[in-house]
Amino acid sequence: MVPESDEQKKVDFPLYQQPYPEETLLIDLVPPEEFKIGKSPFIDSVNTRKSRRKYTDEYLTLEDISFLLWCTQGLKEVLRSGRGVRRTVPSSGAKSPFETYLVVNRVEGLETGLYRYISFSHKLMFVKQIENSEEKIGTLVYNQKFVGKAPVIFFWTAIPYRTEWRYTILAHKFIAIDLGIVCQSLYMACEAINLGTVAIGYYEQNKLDKLFELNTADEFVVLLAPVGKYEA
Ligand SMILES: Cc1cc2nc3c(=O)[nH]c(=O)nc-3n(C[C@H](O)[C@H](O)[C@H](O)COP(=O)(O)O)c2cc1C
Repeated sequence: MVPESDEQKKVDFPLYQQPYPEETLLIDLVPPEEFKIGKSPFIDSVNTRKSRRKYTDEYLTLEDISFLLWCTQGLKEVLRSGRGVRRTVPSSGAKSPFETYLVVNRVEGLETGLYRYISFSHKLMFVKQIENSEEKIGTLVYNQKFVGKAPVIFFWTAIPYRTEWRYTILAHKFIAIDLGIVCQSLYMACEAINLGTVAIGYYEQNKLDKLFELNTADEFVVLLAPVGKYEA
């Protein structure tokens, strides 16, 4: 038996983007209609995709990360009912239970540190600096050192209540499926612009949540993925 949901109990629907201070200065990303990259045939990305763990020291561009953020969590529409959002990726009930964070080591024009994707306006928010980030991230993934050394590392957090609000105990299966879709989209988007990535599920949960200063009753890291140019 599936219990009565908060939606059925007429509880207000949740936010589909975590709040941030109003006065925050957001960084403009390249809008999707201006992308010059990513025009390679889809079948080429399907055929070349694999997990890539060796990255060069080269910097990524703002267009690269704009492209990857758009392909994985780009926001297309808030539902008229307000009860969900449509993105470039599907999500159970359009509930879209993730936030995307980036640890930036080498991206042209961006200082190093932790950022959050503000998908509702396709912008980037600087969260904080992380001292010795390459070393620190490498340690937090049980010494998979290549992860910390990547030019940029994607982190997805889940906010389960967005999906639980409607689906109660069924939500967790849906969130797992949604996350797989987001991650595969990153793999394909990377292949399309000659970048490499790998899903990283093996990390120190509590320490990473603490580093990101998450309120873990509501939100916690669920997967990460380093991204970089790879040697052909
Ligand atoms: C959910 C998930 C978690 C993963 N975690 C790690 C990880 O912590 N470290 C790693 O090196 N690879 C990780 N991988 C990558 C797998 O090892 C890889 O996909 C698998 O070996 C198949 O290789 P391929 O992706 O090149 O086809 C993970 C993959 C998935 C889907």
